[in-house]
Amino acid sequence: MNTFDEIVAADRRVEPRDDMPDGYRRTMVRQIAQHAHSEIIGMQPEGDWITRAPSLRRKAILLAKVQDEAGHGLYLYSAAETLGVERTDLTERLISGRQKYSSIFNYPALSYADVGVIGWLVDGAAICNQVPLCRSSYGPYARAMIRICKEESFHQRQGYELLMTMMRGTRAQQEAVQNAVDRWWWPSLMMFGPPDADSPNTAQSMAWKIKRHTNDELRQRFVDMTVPQADRLGVRLPDPELRWNAERGHHDFGTPDWDELRRVISGGGHCNAERIERRRAAHENGAWVREAAEAYAAKHGRERRA
Ligand code: ACO
Repeated sequence: MNTFDEIVAADRRVEPRDDMPDGYRRTMVRQIAQHAHSEIIGMQPEGDWITRAPSLRRKAILLAKVQDEAGHGLYLYSAAETLGVERTDLTERLISGRQKYSSIFNYPALSYADVGVIGWLVDGAAICNQVPLCRSSYGPYARAMIRICKEESFHQRQGYELLMTMMRGTRAQQEAVQNAVDRWWWPSLMMFGPPDADSPNTAQSMAWKIKRHTNDELRQRFVDMTVPQADRLGVRLPDPELRWNAERGHHDFGTPDWDELRRVISGGGHCNAERIERRRAAHENGAWVREAAEAYAAKHGRERRA
């Protein structure tokens, strides 16, 4: 039998029945739960636009996308449950503010252009962060991530295609796209987390091969990937310091407002209260569904045993 250290050193996957340090288990529960909460809370900003989609086609695409986010949340709660926690308990921890979700979902989606920009920038950032997680050391998380990343790629492309269409449209549509890019650019960079020097978890998570790259490495990768896409789209990224650095072979860019990230993470963003309140209401309104499912399972369990 291999020890935890041998599994990690050999770059194999840690499975639920393997012995693992308590800290590893706690870190995995924290990260997977935060990730699951982000997917579920992340349904809200775009969900608001389903009834106001400009065409049947756009509505079908947006519906499918928001449903995918629900599915991602469910895979991830299942992955967390393999570590010995209960989904109901994780939901309680979310709605009581004891567990976090991504800062990005505390910003409002003000126009339909925001739907495109969320797909392009927010899902683009999510892909950058999550593709390396397909090689994360915890097996159930890494495997969930493979399917999630495939769906995220579709989300990113639908966003980019929507923006391309709007940029070929009227002046007002082009301005709406630019306005949305101006609002979402910096929050998207903040999704990758605090700078490495202020990231308490990165070193240990890298040693355990939970994270494969640091927050700053992934942020840089996202900027380098996005700049040519912005050029192609014909939008301006709102950063006067953004320029190609031939020596480094990367783009230089400005510093995100880290005070804003801290504020948003600790509950002070535009939409934190509203997001949690809606999640709480949805959870409470769904109580009868959970009770009915339990009654059904109990009845069929009795029938099977009889
Ligand atoms: N929003 C909210 N909380 C954040 C964010 C953010 N953008 N960035 C960092 N944090 C939190 C961390 O979760 C950590 O919380 P803790 O107090 O529970 O320890 C704390 O701030 C310090 O940050 P780090 O030490 O850098 O934490 P970590 O090593 O976990 O890295 C990261 C953060 C990069 C987000 C990592 O957890 C990760 O890769 N998670 C999986 C991806 C994910 O959750 N994506 C969700 C959004 S994508 C989507 O749903 C479309």
